[in-house]
Amino acid sequence: MLKRTLYPLLLLAVLAACSKNESVPATSAAAPPAAAAVPAANDSMAKGEHVYKATCSLCHATGAGGSPVFGDKADWSPRIAQGKETLYGHALKGFTGAKGTMPPKGANPSLSDDDVKAAVDYMVAQIK
Ligand code: HEC
Repeated sequence: MLKRTLYPLLLLAVLAACSKNESVPATSAAAPPAAAAVPAANDSMAKGEHVYKATCSLCHATGAGGSPVFGDKADWSPRIAQGKETLYGHALKGFTGAKGTMPPKGANPSLSDDDVKAAVDYMVAQIK
């Protein structure tokens, strides 16, 4: 009995609700973008770091002999401004400047030209 009287009322209520045309809040949160790809390990940088630590750091870690100290922006910036080719040349063939003498290949003739260039790249990369 009760059902019979309630049903039409329920129907009305449902219709009324529909006619209100309430907009449903959008729940679509954009999916977060895929994590940035991890840069591939830079082989040349790794080699440069190795060569630096084994040879160049003997002077450049402390500024021995008047060498520009590793990471010293004030000393490195004007040198970097000469251009990479000049730095490579000075590191490979040696260079006597106002502060002292950079020996050819850091006085380690067993290094290849690429080793020395990688070490220069590594040292220059520390200067931001
Ligand atoms: C025996 C010490 C010594 C070692 C070892 C050494 N350097 Fe140097 N380097 C110097 C000195 C001294 C200078 C600065 C000369 C000046 O400006 O008067 C210098 C300067 C430089 C410069 C700047 C050149 C310019 O044009 O200003 C570069 C690049 C460099 N060295 C690279 C290297 C690399 C690469 C190695 C290792 C393979 C290395 N050095 C090992 C002493 C050294």
